[in-house]
Amino acid sequence: MSASSQDILVHTDAAVMTITLNRVEKKNSITSAMYAAMADALDAAHADAAVRVVVIQGHESIFSAGNDIGDFLNGPPATHESPVFRFLRGISTFPKPLVAAVCGPAVGIGTTLLLHCDLVYAGDNAAFSMPFVNLGLCPEAASSFLAPQLMGYARAAEALLLGEPFMAESALEMGLINRIVPPLEANALAQRQAQKLAAKPLSSLVETKRLMKKGQAGMVAERMAEEGVSFGRMLKEPAAREAFGAFMQKRKPDFSGV
Ligand code: COA
Repeated sequence: MSASSQDILVHTDAAVMTITLNRVEKKNSITSAMYAAMADALDAAHADAAVRVVVIQGHESIFSAGNDIGDFLNGPPATHESPVFRFLRGISTFPKPLVAAVCGPAVGIGTTLLLHCDLVYAGDNAAFSMPFVNLGLCPEAASSFLAPQLMGYARAAEALLLGEPFMAESALEMGLINRIVPPLEANALAQRQAQKLAAKPLSSLVETKRLMKKGQAGMVAERMAEEGVSFGRMLKEPAAREAFGAFMQKRKPDFSGV
């Protein structure tokens, strides 16, 4: 799928590429085609020396409801080259600065992708959740490694074992986000911060990010691969089939808490 899909908007201006989740009517839930479009955009941003920074943003009312459940049921990721895995590899190894603006619910990958961003600005309505266990699944995006490292084990256990959501104030205190602003200001703030980064020497940004992430790069890749194997297996098991089936039949389980 090309990056011209209306569900993912990709726009580059003054050395900043902005990737916008634009499927608001479905709460910005992410289909395989959308993962492919985002993976393609990251590849293009990586290759293009004129792009210095990438911003990922949603709408002031919703960042993302995570994987599109119906799409996931119909076409679960089958290989290493599946769009979702391409996107996860792309975001976790992206060498240039990544900035995110998050408002409203950020469910599943809507939260875990933030663990790979360098700067995150949140609306005061942001609600983060990683309800993988409640869906009969396990963490992805190396969140089983990065969340305990960031939050401490106790808070990661509440988020990942209980699947309890947490709000912007907690996310700020944990260090998942940089600042809280009114929702209508989050995307603009992310753009301003991205422009500040874009004005700095790219090689210094890239080298500084590489050095900061060096200690964990191998572990992130290894954990992501292991999670991917478990996630793929668990997707076919009864607990996940039941939870996903319930969602599809609108017997929506109250796992998001938002
Ligand atoms: N996959 C597919 N469709 C989704 C979706 C998802 N993850 N999340 C929301 N949608 C769809 C709904 O089915 C609904 O579609 P419809 O209008 O055709 O009925 C539409 O988006 C609006 O969703 P709704 O649940 O009515 O909005 P809400 O404001 O009441 O709640 C959320 C928003 C994000 C809290 C809620 O949609 C939710 O919990 N979604 C599931 C999150 C999830 O478990 N994601 C998987 C993580 S791995």
